[in-house]
Amino acid sequence: MDGQGKVVCVTGASGYIASWLVKLLLQRGYTVKATVRDPNDPKKTEHLLALEGAKERLHLFKANLLEEGSFDSVVDGCDGVFHTASPVVLIVDDPQLWYMLSKTLAEEAAWKFAKENGIDMVTINPGWVIGPLLQPTLNLSVEEVLKLLKGDTFPNKTHRWVDVRDVAMAHIQAYELPTARGRYCLVGSILHCSETMKILRKLYPALNLPEKCADDKPYEPAYMVSQEKTKSLGIDFTPLEVSLKDTVESLREKNFVSF
Ligand SMILES: NC(=O)c1ccc[n+]([C@@H]2O[C@H](COP(=O)([O-])OP(=O)(O)OC[C@H]3O[C@@H](n4cnc5c(N)ncnc54)[C@H](OP(=O)(O)O)[C@@H]3O)[C@@H](O)[C@H]2O)c1
Repeated sequence: MDGQGKVVCVTGASGYIASWLVKLLLQRGYTVKATVRDPNDPKKTEHLLALEGAKERLHLFKANLLEEGSFDSVVDGCDGVFHTASPVVLIVDDPQLWYMLSKTLAEEAAWKFAKENGIDMVTINPGWVIGPLLQPTLNLSVEEVLKLLKGDTFPNKTHRWVDVRDVAMAHIQAYELPTARGRYCLVGSILHCSETMKILRKLYPALNLPEKCADDKPYEPAYMVSQEKTKSLGIDFTPLEVSLKDTVESLREKNFVSF
């Protein structure tokens, strides 16, 4: 219970990654001030309020990044802030490119602000996050697994997979470990879709999963991302087979797929 007596804020708390973060923080004894845009929407709050320890130590607040000063009173007096909320709305030709640009600019601005204001900041940059859903709605990265299950073909794409539970734990370790510094890139395994499909087929042999790539171009190459720095946070990456299985089982349990 390392968090006993400590108060932390989690922004965008009802999101996919943040919900796991809130769950683990409560388990560790923290008091959590969680921000959501609409505290009256049960789809955003019910799963958080049902978490172990929520009754005693979870407090919900309304805050929106697009409203200046909206977070000030929530963050005030907190020992730490986990900032996961993201206001990205993409109605453009190349959403992936604009997403990357928005994240890069946001991180640069955060580093500049942290340096100018003497804030002790660490950033966590996960790959493509999968694993069980706590919230009732589907988020973008888990939807990718749903598409692999339901598609006629698989995309010619290489993913940097990482488990949501590892991502949430990395946030906590980065906060708790005094030696944590700088940026952490979190990638468990990098695999072309053709290889990911092989794992899914082995896990679910009875399913009619796509065998053909969506195009006949050379496969997008795989590459490496060093795990050394993340391992210094004490993160042992969840095997991809486990993450994929837990994602599919969660999609089943929440009725996004039926088989
Ligand atoms: N999932 C991935 O694979 C992945 C990979 C790398 C980085 N990330 C980053 O990790 C963060 C969380 O991702 P996620 O997958 O957990 O996303 P998510 O489930 O879509 O959650 C995003 C959260 O952001 C909040 N939000 C959106 N606009 C906001 C605004 N204007 N003001 C305040 N809050 C706002 C939403 O809050 P409400 O529910 O209150 O509307 C939502 O809960 C994001 O910054 C994302 O870019 C995700």
